[in-house]
Amino acid sequence: MNQDTQNSLVVVNDLKTWFPVRGRWFGHQFVRAVDGVSFSIPPGATLALVGESGSGKTTVGRTILKLIPATGGQVSFDEVDLFSLPRSALRRMRRRMQIIFQDPVGSLNPRMTVGNIVGEPIKVHRLCDTRRARQQQVAELLGRVGLDPVHAKRYPHEFSGGQRQRIGIARALASQPEFIVCDEPVSALDVSIQAQILNLLDDLQDEFNFTYLFIAHNLAVVEHFADTVAVMYLGRIVEIAGRDDLYANPQHPYTVSLFSAVPRPEPDRKADRIRLEGEVPSPINPPTGCHFHPRCGLTRQKADDGGEQTCQVTVQGRPVTVLRKCVEQTPELLPMTGNSNHCHACHMRR
Ligand SMILES: Nc1ncnc2c1ncn2[C@@H]1O[C@H](COP(=O)(O)OP(=O)(O)O)[C@@H](O)[C@H]1O
Ligand SMILES: [Mg+2]
Repeated sequence: MNQDTQNSLVVVNDLKTWFPVRGRWFGHQFVRAVDGVSFSIPPGATLALVGESGSGKTTVGRTILKLIPATGGQVSFDEVDLFSLPRSALRRMRRRMQIIFQDPVGSLNPRMTVGNIVGEPIKVHRLCDTRRARQQQVAELLGRVGLDPVHAKRYPHEFSGGQRQRIGIARALASQPEFIVCDEPVSALDVSIQAQILNLLDDLQDEFNFTYLFIAHNLAVVEHFADTVAVMYLGRIVEIAGRDDLYANPQHPYTVSLFSAVPRPEPDRKADRIRLEGEVPSPINPPTGCHFHPRCGLTRQKADDGGEQTCQVTVQGRPVTVLRKCVEQTPELLPMTGNSNHCHACHMRR
């Protein structure tokens, strides 16, 4: 692990979440949605988890919060091992960890008023003695996220997408958490609204010293927000670094290709342009060695350059020559020489 786990609020170690699925011909197979993920987040910091859809980001967030059972690994929160916690202690711990969902429509109960939605965590965790105190608290929370407290009597469908996400944020704040998983909180919103919600989350972090696990599929969203960025591909972290290091000096060809997908103001930025071809393969039967090898432009280029052992693989029906080690050996996530905080899992960058 590349970070100081001792001073961290959240420490995730070798987390695995596999889902059983029925195989076509025999028995069970597993979707290895999360397959050995480790990171830690100091209090008040933001770790961004970035990767294409299907890479396992949501599953990481939900497994950490114990909304999904883990297959293996450990998660500790404030030095307490979450996976071996008895139920009653877990319930108390839950107050301190919240989630803001990607889809503000599906995540709010349409039959509950906004006041009841936001007030529910206060009730569940018995944070107010009287109904009146709870209503007062709800009004303050709505005001804090930029909604009119008068609207507590309305239902979610009466609000716009951005306002619904504000309701989701107010609900997350209601239990006075320390750690919040923000699962693509702006992906479903209009671009014009995205910045407002990001600013709100940023202001709230300053005010309450929240620790965020911020999930995004695009590097642009987290650029001004993250302290550390972890790039995920098919259940594994392929690169993790401080924000400035990662943006200035991306190492893994997958990270570089994610940058190529983001429109940037400086057109002749140094990073080699690597186009991302094809789709994310299935995590049921992921490619051997480096999961990224079938889509990697760099391994093809290096194979063409000669000097190293190569082999042929079939990608979308076509034969492609790549480096043998990329197909045969799983690359470890290791620090770069000279920068122990910048880790990547690419054979060719060593
Ligand atoms: N409950 C489930 N059962 C089976 N497969 C699942 C389940 N939840 C997620 N998956 C699969 O796990 C992989 C990772 O999903 P997810 O964590 O949602 O990725 P992301 O949030 O990065 O888009 C995907 O291939 C997805 O289809
Ligand atoms: Mg997701």
